Amino acid sequence: MYNPNCTRAGQPDVSLASIAQLLQERMGLYSSTVGVSTIQLAVEQRMRACGTEDVNDYARVLSCSATELDALTDTVIIPETWFFRDANPFAAFKQWLQEVWQPEHAGSTLRILSVPCSSGEEAYTLAMCLSDTGIPPDRARIDAIDISHTNIEKAIMGEYGRNSFRGNSLDFRDRHFQPSGNRYRINDQIREYISFKQANLLDDSFTRNRDSYNVIFCRNLLIYFDRKTQDTAIDRLQMLLQPDGLLFLGHSETALLLNREFSPLKNPRCFGFYRDTELTENKQNSRPRPKRSQLNRQTVAPSRTAEPLPFSDIKPVASVKADTTASNNPGTLLQQAFQLADEGHLGEAAEQCEALLTTYDNQADAYYLLGLIRESTGNLIEAEQLLRKAVYLDPVHHEALVHLGIICEQLGDDTNAIRFRNRATRTTKPLTTEAVK
Ligand SMILES: C[S@@+](CC[C@H](N)C(=O)[O-])C[C@H]1O[C@@H](n2cnc3c(N)ncnc32)[C@H](O)[C@@H]1O
Repeated sequence: MYNPNCTRAGQPDVSLASIAQLLQERMGLYSSTVGVSTIQLAVEQRMRACGTEDVNDYARVLSCSATELDALTDTVIIPETWFFRDANPFAAFKQWLQEVWQPEHAGSTLRILSVPCSSGEEAYTLAMCLSDTGIPPDRARIDAIDISHTNIEKAIMGEYGRNSFRGNSLDFRDRHFQPSGNRYRINDQIREYISFKQANLLDDSFTRNRDSYNVIFCRNLLIYFDRKTQDTAIDRLQMLLQPDGLLFLGHSETALLLNREFSPLKNPRCFGFYRDTELTENKQNSRPRPKRSQLNRQTVAPSRTAEPLPFSDIKPVASVKADTTASNNPGTLLQQAFQLADEGHLGEAAEQCEALLTTYDNQADAYYLLGLIRESTGNLIEAEQLLRKAVYLDPVHHEALVHLGIICEQLGDDTNAIRFRNRATRTTKPLTTEAVK
């Protein structure tokens, strides 16, 4: 087995570090976030494929072979995705199509970017939303992009197994897929909306000759980047988004929009923001920003779906790790509660949190999860109270502060929204992937 710390002469090995550095420069992959062992395992796998046991030899091959760099990229990426991953962002997108896009832009072509699209599930989901809303393919274009050639090939193939269909609401499969052996093949009419392409969001050429978009989905990518790369990526997305366009991020990524010209959509837990150029204008003019309620903006109502949601995605699992030797210690109970919430059993998850709070003191995370559950069902007032309790017990509870900022904004309480956003910024830490499934 290759020892990452030693060369054969017993000297500390710099090759793995240099490979990690290369991956960071190429695709923003941050070894402290994904874990050195993830990179090490991928390197070992590629070394076996190349028939070498010497990491220095492998590093040399890598430095002069674009094909091998692609192969390593394909091995190290985390392609996890599925159709309608989180119901709320897509419900919010559909609502925006019906209530804002269609009435105001009936004759125009809607431009959407899905980056990273992985093996295509997210882009096809967006296309299904367009089709279900009655927007034909000649009125909407989706550019679906991923750094991995393998993923793009799978996306173009458009055939999926069980792992791509999760949760209980699978009626979309009957409408938009044909069975193909034990797999499902996407219908041609849905394919028509999308052009799939391999590209790297971090390449300078990414924005070249690219028109701006009305909607961008960039979910579950930025968590793998270091902070500087996250900011570069957001700058790029902001540049590519039309004024008033929508940007959807993953659960753990919304804090990156703090202090930028973005305002959250009203739908709870959709992690969608519209580009709010008035924020910048008001800052420049040093005028107080008009209250959202005074803006002539069509807003969308809270969704009350209780679909399975990866609640634990947004909570670093380290702090809720279970002690498997004890089935009723607070850590185990809390982890069970997160699991129940992830699976969509929101009532049971809420009961488990309430039981925890009656039995144990200082359970900031239980208040936090209960707050998220209330937020997801549209009960913003109670959600705010619970999240305030979480930050009372844990004043640097970053995720709770971020959600408080969003909820206060949704409730029109701009003063507290700013206060919580500022506090969240002060507690900003590198976003972790520990909780990413
Ligand atoms: C976890 S998947 C997210 C897929 C989808 N957006 C979702 O949320 O289900 C992450 C994807 O990011 C892609 N990726 C990683 N770095 C990238 C980069 N610099 N540019 C474009 N895609 C990248 C990987 O290939 C992988 O398919």
